[in-house]
Amino acid sequence: MPRAKTPLLRIDELTAPPVVGRTYLVPHVFQLTYPSDTRVGNWVPVRGAVHDDAELGVLRKHLHFDERFVSKAMMKRIGIENAHSWIVVIGQRDSSMRWSDGKVEWRPARCVTNVVGFANAGRTKAFFRFHQEYRDKELLKGHICPHRGYDLSTIPANAEGVKVCPLHGLHWCAKTGKNVQRKHIIPLDL
Ligand code: FES
Repeated sequence: MPRAKTPLLRIDELTAPPVVGRTYLVPHVFQLTYPSDTRVGNWVPVRGAVHDDAELGVLRKHLHFDERFVSKAMMKRIGIENAHSWIVVIGQRDSSMRWSDGKVEWRPARCVTNVVGFANAGRTKAFFRFHQEYRDKELLKGHICPHRGYDLSTIPANAEGVKVCPLHGLHWCAKTGKNVQRKHIIPLDL
């Protein structure tokens, strides 16, 4: 008798980091490259809720890639070298190179890494101010980033015991939940 398949776990139901090599159900949006009148594009894994970052100078509504599920083959297809902090613009077809209507589908995706980071250093005055604003803050309930409410419970701490929020790079001590400043943020435009 064929063995019944175990249902895939949803990424939002995990309480620990996903296991590299395992497949989970992960939210995806269909990303098109503008201009495109065909439905040619890619399903890309995303995390968090749709938002803008007006305080950081990003006015377009967007979602962030979940780089844990972006394979090398997908990066090649999309034309990116690194999925950290990569975003897909939602619903602004005329002004964006890559956009999506934002309709989420839960699709199977294999975890390729648990190393998350924040590649777009955003070394601007606005970004510097943003990090200063959070210097006395703490994670909510020990695991929720107070900026946009991203749940960090499945984000592992790095070698320094710090959890880096993959949305906008705030750093949090994994033990105390307190904000720890990024030493290397030096604004370029001061
Ligand atoms: S949600 Fe923005 S830094 Fe965490």
